[in-house]
Amino acid sequence: DAHAHPASEHILRMGRAAMASPRQAAQPFTVRMPVPRVATPVRRTADTDVYTLALRPAQVEILPGTTTAALTYGGTFVGPTIKARTGRKVQVTYVNALDKPANVHLHGGHVPPESDGYPMDLIAVGASRTFDYPNRQAGSTLWYHDHTHHMEAEHVYRGMHGFYLVEGPQERRLGLPRGRHDVPIMLRDAHFDATGGLILDVEHPEARSTLLANGRPLPYFPVDAAGYRLRLLNSSIHRIFRLDLGGVEMVQIASDGGLLPEPVPRTTLTLAPAERAEIVVDFGRHAIGSKLVLSDAKGPVMRFDVTRRVPDTSRVPSTLRTLPPLPASPTTRRMKLGVAPSKTAYAINDLTWDADRVDARITEGTSEIWEIYNADTVDSEFGGIDHTFHLHLVQFRVLDRDGGPPLPGESGFKDTVLVRPGERMRIQATFTGWPGRYVYHCHMQEHNVAGMMAQLEIVR
Ligand code: C2O
Ligand code: CU
Repeated sequence: DAHAHPASEHILRMGRAAMASPRQAAQPFTVRMPVPRVATPVRRTADTDVYTLALRPAQVEILPGTTTAALTYGGTFVGPTIKARTGRKVQVTYVNALDKPANVHLHGGHVPPESDGYPMDLIAVGASRTFDYPNRQAGSTLWYHDHTHHMEAEHVYRGMHGFYLVEGPQERRLGLPRGRHDVPIMLRDAHFDATGGLILDVEHPEARSTLLANGRPLPYFPVDAAGYRLRLLNSSIHRIFRLDLGGVEMVQIASDGGLLPEPVPRTTLTLAPAERAEIVVDFGRHAIGSKLVLSDAKGPVMRFDVTRRVPDTSRVPSTLRTLPPLPASPTTRRMKLGVAPSKTAYAINDLTWDADRVDARITEGTSEIWEIYNADTVDSEFGGIDHTFHLHLVQFRVLDRDGGPPLPGESGFKDTVLVRPGERMRIQATFTGWPGRYVYHCHMQEHNVAGMMAQLEIVR
């Protein structure tokens, strides 16, 4: 024991001291992963749930035993989860208690322009704004985050992100895991200084080597021996996750825009910034005491510890959803993503963001094919650069990639897609909604901040 072996006690003490220091905070699997709290409406009317949410600075615990200055929604590093249902409205009054203007975008939301968090439409310091979310859209894992022009990368990096879950009308009948067995997990990276402060060094995204799940580093999460629905979101501003569960099957059931037509069993999963993938993992196939590590290509992300057997009647049906047919004869537009001609910014079709320019005028209700080409090829001057294309207002379908079929998991609706260097892909979207301006951009937010954003205008 430790008394008989002073040397080992010394090592033990050193170990404790090291764990308290942020530099060593990435000791894997020592903190438990929290599930973000579910927001409570301040009022419920016949057709609307009404919320108030403050944008405010907060000292939060990310690394164990240390506090970190963060910018938050509601005071927690992962904001409260808003739970909505298809067809029932949500209204949120956002109060800006930060010391700078900011806003909120409902990523993946089909919302009117004045509630979309347009980058130039900010909530002034001390002011509040009420946003209306109609939820006239399929059940899906959405998220909300800051979209302040030029500051979105920084604001999101410092904590302005949370889940917004829409439940579809038929969803319960499917028998998928629910309740405690339905868990949103926000994955992202971060870079800390010795005192626990968040460092944002745009030149060195690779320095963001601490991986967080729901805002804690390399956590463990106790699970029942049962099926779980895990709603994965990558909220990193640059990092692409390449996930696996040590060869264990992850059945993908949904993408950005909700359920896939059929489940897609996979053992690896690529998740680019802002993408969501819902997977079902059957922990019931594993003995009590099993520990399953979710890893990224660069190392572990979190661990699931199978703790106890419970009755489980959940299932994954072989058909999840019937998709509407794609409308015919749409217009085609070309979107070239790449370093700007000036070579000091990023651009779409060689143009950097200009709030006074409308890049695409679209008649409400029409369907269009967009051909997206990533011109930052491996043999270009700057080498290959990945981009992630995100379109506001609508969900789209992926038609093809380099003339071949979409990737597994792209069979349903998407709002964000990874476009590899030199890749050419086609998507189709039907622009129902409201007249007004909406942005589309690269969701590697450092590229977006550096000009890779444009806007469409819905006209009638
Ligand atoms: Cu998630 Cu325009 O963004
Ligand atoms: Cu990009």
